[in-house]
Amino acid sequence: MPALLSPDAPPRASSQQHFELRRFDAPVGAEVIGLDIAKPIDDAAFARLHRAHLDHHVLVFRDQRITPAQHIAFSRRFGPLDIHVLHQFHLGDHPEILIVSNIKKDNGEPLGLGDAGAYWHSDISYKPEPSLGSLLHAQELPGEGGDTLFADQHLAWEALAPALQQRVLGLKAEHSYLAKYEALRAKNPWRPALSQAQIDKVAPAVHPVVRTHPETGRKALFVSEHFTTRILGLPQDEGDALLAELCANSVKSEFVYRHRWAPHDLVFWDNRSLMHLAAGTPDALRRKLYRTTVRGDAPF
Ligand code: OGA
Ligand code: MN
Repeated sequence: MPALLSPDAPPRASSQQHFELRRFDAPVGAEVIGLDIAKPIDDAAFARLHRAHLDHHVLVFRDQRITPAQHIAFSRRFGPLDIHVLHQFHLGDHPEILIVSNIKKDNGEPLGLGDAGAYWHSDISYKPEPSLGSLLHAQELPGEGGDTLFADQHLAWEALAPALQQRVLGLKAEHSYLAKYEALRAKNPWRPALSQAQIDKVAPAVHPVVRTHPETGRKALFVSEHFTTRILGLPQDEGDALLAELCANSVKSEFVYRHRWAPHDLVFWDNRSLMHLAAGTPDALRRKLYRTTVRGDAPF
């Protein structure tokens, strides 16, 4: 006869979740099959997820029926969460969630950040401590379009000619949220004007052009056309030309996984290893996702 469990015994083995990983036929990404984020995830399962995230850079969890609170709680296991500067697009009582959506409310105001990621970037690279990774959960998807692309910046670094690698190793670049904000606002007038308090929160940051992943030790390019404004120590035109060359290399198709969203997908990517891009949604179609952003370390 098995011994009776005392009331404070740990959960029995049968409550543990088993899951599989299936790599995509792409340079990055894997699907996590059989895991329900709404249910408890023990430390051993979490450790496997953590390892898989480092190995594949993008993890896709299909059909996750999670509440915002569960989305936040799962995200927090990877680190502290960033609160996005555009408080206008926080989800109600959950400032940890940024609404990414092209939907307009009945009064005409935007429900969320409609042009989030309409350019290649790494989330919050404009902060001194950019993001470790972001978790995007599908709420409402368009019948066509709305894909998200991910480009492996380790591969992008490794593909550079040795002479170019030598030239950029050790360079630093400035990243700015504000530099292109007004240009975005001119294109998309629904973007709110920033208050002085918001402006103060997003002072430019300086990061190495080539960063070392703090957990795997792999090098990755860390510049983007949108947020990176200049390379320190170079004349602006020379820096611009170098940035353009690096950015053109960064997003070659052989480094890219294209995610086609399915209902209730949760996608968790590594902002230290990847850049990503919202491929675009036809204006007439509605799209809404919730994003949490895990803060990371200062790049080195
Ligand atoms: C983001 C982002 C891309 C997308 O939420 O950080 O860049 O496809 N989104 O919505
Ligand atoms: Mn983004």
